[in-house]
Parts: sequence; structure tokens; C-alpha cells
Amino acid sequence: MSDSSERNLIERAAALLKAGELVSFPTETVYGLGADASNPEALRKLYAAKGRPSSHPVIVHVAGAEQAKQWVSSLPESFTILAERFWPGPLTMVMPRAEHVPDQVTGGQDTVALRVPAHPLALELLAAFEGGVAAPSANRFGRLSPTKADDVRREFGDAVALVLDGGPCAVGIESTILDLSSGTARILRPGMVIASQIEEVLGIEVTTHAAETAPALRVPGSLPGHYAPVTPLMLLPWEELQTKMRQFVAAGSTVGVLSFKTASDVHGAVNWHQARLDADDYAQQLYAVLRKLDQLHGQYILVEEPPREAQWIGIHDRLRRAANGNSK
Ligand code: TXA
Ligand code: MG
Repeated sequence: MSDSSERNLIERAAALLKAGELVSFPTETVYGLGADASNPEALRKLYAAKGRPSSHPVIVHVAGAEQAKQWVSSLPESFTILAERFWPGPLTMVMPRAEHVPDQVTGGQDTVALRVPAHPLALELLAAFEGGVAAPSANRFGRLSPTKADDVRREFGDAVALVLDGGPCAVGIESTILDLSSGTARILRPGMVIASQIEEVLGIEVTTHAAETAPALRVPGSLPGHYAPVTPLMLLPWEELQTKMRQFVAAGSTVGVLSFKTASDVHGAVNWHQARLDADDYAQQLYAVLRKLDQLHGQYILVEEPPREAQWIGIHDRLRRAANGNSK
């Protein structure tokens, strides 16, 4: 795309947002479905398109730390340090909301979630729009997040006025959500920015909120059934995965496998995807691989448990939800 046609597209996307339309745009984590965060009518449209309960809060995306300040009533001490270190990037900060923030953004809570995404198209769009863009992941409620423009087009068709195509997302799973609203630093949703990186710059302990016990209303991403393919998915240690695979195949089932090992014992009834033992790489491909295995319409998807190290916690979290998310 030439520079001027890209410029035109950004201008058009910003104009559509200003007119209350929905625009999908790439971020470094996943594609977002954007609406003007100060326009209640646009926010209603956003919730309707996603099929998401309106009590669930959304993240406001802004062009920089200065713009973020306009959405909060007070700045936590750690804000500046974290913004300098991690923005633009895959970290969302939850802070006390400014009064003007619409209830549809906060789900009626007294906090607001803010993030400066790192994808160049997202930053250009936010700069051209000159406001906050409320953007959940551009998938229907409870489904896999999109990491390519085509995923969004397939999911929403005409319900979205424009999809900006920025290629495949580089990070691949949703941002780390850090709650700074009550004087501490608490991870509400783990991601590729990990607790120790935050602790390193803040010099205070960062706690991680156990996803299983999170109140569903406060962090709907914590509903166990989020981020799910339609095909039943099992997260298993390697030995068990092999046993299950053999049982299912013997019973006449077709299975998809996501494993670190080289395909073994494989024939027509098994679709094997071998992943590299590299957390960044694994996260980047995770949703595309799950989507691919899901679209094969087998009876089961079997996923080998990844390592337990900190860099894999966000990946574990998404895989556990995917495993919980289907009842077929
Ligand atoms: O990487 C991301 O964060 C992507 C891209 C598009 O930026 N967005 C994303 O949005 O994952 P969504 O809506 O799918 O997930 C946002 C999560 C939800 O679990 C929501 O409950 C939580 O953020 N959230 C939003 N506002 C909050 C608040 N004030 N307090 C606690 N959690 C909040
Ligand atoms: Mg989502």
C-alpha cells in the first residue's frame, strides 16, 4: 500500500469512528473492535455486535500516556514508571475513572482500563481520531480472539464498517491487565508482560489474581469458558495426551493435536501441529493454530501442557479457558 492510500484509509477510519461506526484495527496483541469511547450510542452498537453483556467493561485505547490521563480521576504513583517502560505495548492499567467516562465503558464500576497499543496502524488511527477508542477483541463473545484481518471479516461481515489490515499480530494473546486502582499492583489477566518485569521497575510485589476465583462480572475475561474453539479441547501432559489420542482414534474419532513433539503414530485420523518450545512464538501463533485445528471439525483437540515458567502463564491461562469453554 502506498503511503498516501494508507493515510486516506486511516483518515476514513477516524471519520467513521467519529460518526459512531465500528472500526476494527490491528494491535500487537489481537485485533480490536473499536468504537468512540465517549459516545454511548457507538458503545451500544459495539456491545450488540459482540453479543457481549453491557455490564462487562472494555479497555480504552489511547495514543499516549498524556491522553490516558484524561480518562482517570487520579494517577497511581506507579503509572508514569509503567507507562514509560511498557507503553506502547501489551500492558493495560486499571485506574480510578474520570467522571465523564461513560458507564458502558466501565460496566458501571469506578475504574477504567487504559492501554496504548504498539501496532503502528493502531497508533496512527488513535492519533488521527484524537480521542479514546473502546476496543474489545474483535470476536463474538466467548470465541477465539482474532489475530488476522480475515478472522475479523469472517466473524463480523458487514457489521463492521471497516477492517484495517495490519497483518498477523506480533504478540498474539491479549494484554496483561494490571489493577492499580487500590494502591497495590495486581494482575487481573496474565499476558506476555509478566509480574517479574513489572516488579523490576516498580520495586514492589505484584500479585496475580487467580483466574478461577475472579468474580465473573468484574473481569468477564475470567469466565472459565472464554477464548474457546467449538471443538472440545483437552490440555494434557504428554504421556496422557498419547494415551487419549490412541483411545479416541481407536474409537473412530478424528483428533487435532498441538504438541512440542514431532508427529508420531500419526495417520489420517490425526492432524498434528508441532509448536516450538518458545513462549513468544507459541503465543504469537496460538489462536491461529487453535482456529485451524477447530476448522478441521474433528471430535477433539488435544493440547500438550506447556512448561510452567512465568513466560508461559498467559498462555496457560488461555489454554485452560479454551479447555473449559466447550461442552460439546
Ligand atoms: O490485548 C488486549 O487487551 C485486546 C486488544 C484489542 O487491546 N483487548 C481485549 O479486550 O482483550 P477484551 O474486551 O476482549 O478484554 C478486556 C478485559 C475484559 O476481561 C474486561 O473485563 C477487562 O479487560 N476490563 C476492562 N475494564 C476493566 C476494569 N475497569 N476493571 C477490571 N477489568 C476491566
Ligand atoms: Mg476478548
